[in-house]
Amino acid sequence: MKTFQIANIPGDGIGKEVVPAATEVLNALAEVHGGIKFEFTEFPWSCEYYLEHGQMMPDDGLEQLKDFDSIFLGAVGNLQLVPDHISLWGLLIKIRREFEQVINIRPAKLMDGVRSPLVNPKDFDLIVVRENSEGEYSSIGGNIYKDEDEIAIQNAIFSRKASERAMRYAFELAAKRGKHVTSATKSNGIIYSMPFWDKVFKEVSKDYPDITTDSQHIDALAAFFVTHPDKFDVVVASNLFGDILTDLGAAIMGSIGIAPAANINVNGKYPSMFEPVHGSAPDILGKGIANPIGQIWTAKMMLDHFGEEELGTALLDIVESVTRDGYLTPDIGGTNTTKEVTDEIIKRIRDLGKLNADEETTGYSKV
Ligand code: NAI
Ligand code: MG
Repeated sequence: MKTFQIANIPGDGIGKEVVPAATEVLNALAEVHGGIKFEFTEFPWSCEYYLEHGQMMPDDGLEQLKDFDSIFLGAVGNLQLVPDHISLWGLLIKIRREFEQVINIRPAKLMDGVRSPLVNPKDFDLIVVRENSEGEYSSIGGNIYKDEDEIAIQNAIFSRKASERAMRYAFELAAKRGKHVTSATKSNGIIYSMPFWDKVFKEVSKDYPDITTDSQHIDALAAFFVTHPDKFDVVVASNLFGDILTDLGAAIMGSIGIAPAANINVNGKYPSMFEPVHGSAPDILGKGIANPIGQIWTAKMMLDHFGEEELGTALLDIVESVTRDGYLTPDIGGTNTTKEVTDEIIKRIRDLGKLNADEETTGYSKV
């Protein structure tokens, strides 16, 4: 029996609704599988915790988290209690930075039964690998002079190490998927960092002869996400370009409520963190209608990360069968509640378990 230790941080708002839902789903999967187990430890760190303790997590918070196999986070932010820069930087960003979660990955896929805002979206299924540690989001620069002479300087940092790391991650991912990597560049306009990025991309691509590649300027690439999202498999991008592209990716799927994300630690020193793209959604808090799919899909990414890819794929197939059959929360055009959608997913996981047991196969191997 393989046991995975998971640190649950539901956080604020609907995080407290969707993390328990996804946790139930993971437990149902473990039951059906038979060979794995999840042990969840919940941490109450949130804006309410801040009000009581004056900080988002205790001084030894990272120490408490560091030996878990992964961190499963809901959302952080409650503007009525705590300003966003304090809540986000005091928890989420602290974990991302200190645990060297240098890669951010976000898939975007047309889900059966979910209406995309695109008129003719075709069947897209892509994943963006975003360099998450440097690039355009480096705090190097400064301001000088005043008034009409005022100057702001913002430097972008592109190291071979971090660029190559993100690219290799993208190629490894593509090897398990559609075998194509697109590099987001802008070497016609940004004349030092982006030609360097292109050069490293070319070098790295030589190590992956089975994978085809192309490079696209970010402006054209953004347009292609709207006009031809089906043409992409894995897209690798710098921090800023990846940030913009991934919001676009979530948008073309039809709701931020279904978009998952992962912050990956690649050196194995610290846990990775899995969190949906959405925030705490105070406008729907307590109504029981938060879409649990973003968090559940995030759990699928966690399973992939644990090497349980078959189980992860089975989970996403079940989620898609549920949306296909019209179990939809209001954000994607339905009338179902968080609980109804979650219960249906769990029911289908158990049905699958029964089916496999009847056929005397092990676990979910028939999926
Ligand atoms: P948001 O993502 O919380 O909400 C944006 C809109 O999408 C709202 O109308 C909301 O109802 C809807 N929505 C989001 N998730 C949904 C779900 N699962 N099901 C159905 N509808 C959903 O973004 P907003 O309103 O800008 O931020 C609210 C708070 O969350 C802020 O304090 C913000 O700082 C924080 N935040 C935290 C993030 C994180 O923890 N990673 C990410 C984004 C925002
Ligand atoms: Mg963003």
